[in-house]
Amino acid sequence: MSDARITGKLESQEEVKTPLAGEASSKQLAAGPAAGRRILSGMRPTGKLHLGNLVGALENWVKLQYEYESYHFVADWHMLTTDYAQTGELQTNIREMVSDWLAVGLDPAKATLFLQSRLPEHAELHLLLSMVTPLGWLERVPSYKEQLENMPDRELHTYGFLGYPLLQSADILMYKANFVPVGEDQVPHVELTREVARRFNNFYGDLFPEPATLLTETARLRGTDGRKMSKSYNNAIYLSDPPEVVEKKAATMMTDPARKRRYDPGDPEVCPVFDHHKIFSSPAVIARVNRECRTAEIGCVECKKLMAAHLNQKLAPIQQRRRAYEEDPQQVWAILEDGTEKARKVAQATMAEVRKAINLV
Ligand code: TRP
Ligand code: SF4
Repeated sequence: MSDARITGKLESQEEVKTPLAGEASSKQLAAGPAAGRRILSGMRPTGKLHLGNLVGALENWVKLQYEYESYHFVADWHMLTTDYAQTGELQTNIREMVSDWLAVGLDPAKATLFLQSRLPEHAELHLLLSMVTPLGWLERVPSYKEQLENMPDRELHTYGFLGYPLLQSADILMYKANFVPVGEDQVPHVELTREVARRFNNFYGDLFPEPATLLTETARLRGTDGRKMSKSYNNAIYLSDPPEVVEKKAATMMTDPARKRRYDPGDPEVCPVFDHHKIFSSPAVIARVNRECRTAEIGCVECKKLMAAHLNQKLAPIQQRRRAYEEDPQQVWAILEDGTEKARKVAQATMAEVRKAINLV
């Protein structure tokens, strides 16, 4: 197997510069998804999505739906593996997240959008895969120990949490996905999936293709306090933040600490405001800030206002589309239900093959 296959670094991926959500080129539209190019990815229902989710995953999904047969699902069971003690907001969080998916341009006519917990087939495949998966493979997954250490306030020494990556393998293999568009942190999970697929195929015959990671190249986007943008850090700007909130958050953003006074020159590269400029502003503005920050011609107050204005411009059409789903949440559930029934057909077909291969029928 070539490296290209393993990392999933496709030429087409390098060529296509991420358009803003919802904007596909006519070339992409005309090409349609090619055969053998099925992708699948899931997202834990964390509620309203922030700009980090947008540039880290969502924009990529939107772009890929024109090139691949796309399956995207709400990983609500995955959420339970860490958040089993607080499920009160689960349904709200699902609705808010999927509203954001739709608002940025994921199109249910192109991508199949579904809900994991409505498909018991995922649980069945997880169980059957667990029979052939050595414990050590799960214990060695880097995120396992890391998260145990990073979330000391939660009891994560559970059966479900150890099995997290294997549940993910079941998600992926169920749809015989060729590619899994995810960030760097998920690469070990896809790698585990490949190993599990190989082992299953060894015992029961060639059933599952080995999926490859389609690495999402993410532009750096730090939160308002300079740390990685994250809901739990309370430093995020949300897709659904109204313009005043965006302005306020921008105004309180950390800048280059070297710019204590207005006439101190700065280095935009160390400043999270500039991260946002690079993604949301025009080339002319980016060039200007890059120059005038270093010479102290532009002040941080003006620079932030400029950034907020550009960001708000990008968010306006997204929020416009989102409004329809806020006014009629039933639409969101109907879309999920429809996608879930499409996914169910594939899942049932796969499970019929799996049971037969194991001699369960
Ligand atoms: N573990 C993924 C995350 O935390 C979510 C996920 C669950 C997923 N199942 C998946 C991603 C299958 C890709 C494919 O982001
Ligand atoms: Fe950051 Fe802009 Fe201030 Fe430079 S001028 S430090 S880029 S906010």
